[in-house]
Amino acid sequence: MRTPLVMGNWKLNGTKGSVRALIKDFETTAQAAKNVQVAVFPPTIFIDQVAVLVEKTCIEWGAQDISTNVSGAYTGETSPMMVKEFGAKYSLVGHSERRQYHNETDQIVAAKFVTIQKHGLVPVLCIGETLEQREKNETTQVVESQLKAVVELAGIKALGNCVIAYEPVWAIGTGKVATSEQAQEVHAHIRLWLSKQDKSVADKVQILYGGSVKASSAKELFEQEDIDGGLVGGAALIAEEFIGIINGAK
Ligand code: PGA
Repeated sequence: MRTPLVMGNWKLNGTKGSVRALIKDFETTAQAAKNVQVAVFPPTIFIDQVAVLVEKTCIEWGAQDISTNVSGAYTGETSPMMVKEFGAKYSLVGHSERRQYHNETDQIVAAKFVTIQKHGLVPVLCIGETLEQREKNETTQVVESQLKAVVELAGIKALGNCVIAYEPVWAIGTGKVATSEQAQEVHAHIRLWLSKQDKSVADKVQILYGGSVKASSAKELFEQEDIDGGLVGGAALIAEEFIGIINGAK
């Protein structure tokens, strides 16, 4: 059985004070939910603080983005080695906001995926279609091509050591959550696509749903056979909501 996993992507939000308060507020719930893995993705500037705050807890954390370069003249970038040194377990890769605002192509995403794994971190590979693509019935085609780019560069076995987050772009930050049926349909398709290449990878990989997950929608989503948890944005910044979402995964 796959362990349920709840991840909070804080994006570009927070202060030293709010980070401290937020972790303190959901820490007890995370510790008590023994069968649920919990992780957060703070802005890079708060990584050191978060690493210290979660040190004696079961809460894990990751980077929101890393560079494909390990060191050198790359102003503003964060190296996978640096976040690893602070104790990161994960790094997001291919988030739709990176694809959209930073022009990250499938090829760049694949290169970052390889770099993340090479430095001992677990990639959380985000994929998903836009509203226009969904309306044109292109959802499965889009997620397949996003996965294919990574498989072509990293090999199918590499996907056995990652987390996949299916995040329909039209549901991110819009309050429009996919129905549990809509999400399950795509999750099942992703798992089927993977199993055609390697059944053990398909059985093992945690596939999370992301896009306006709230405490009120989490349980029903996570009850679906192929949904192994959630990647949560806005609701991960509100302790009460995040607590409800962790409890929905139990
Ligand atoms: P949201 O963001 O929960 O605010 O829709 C999810 C994400 O972008 O990972």
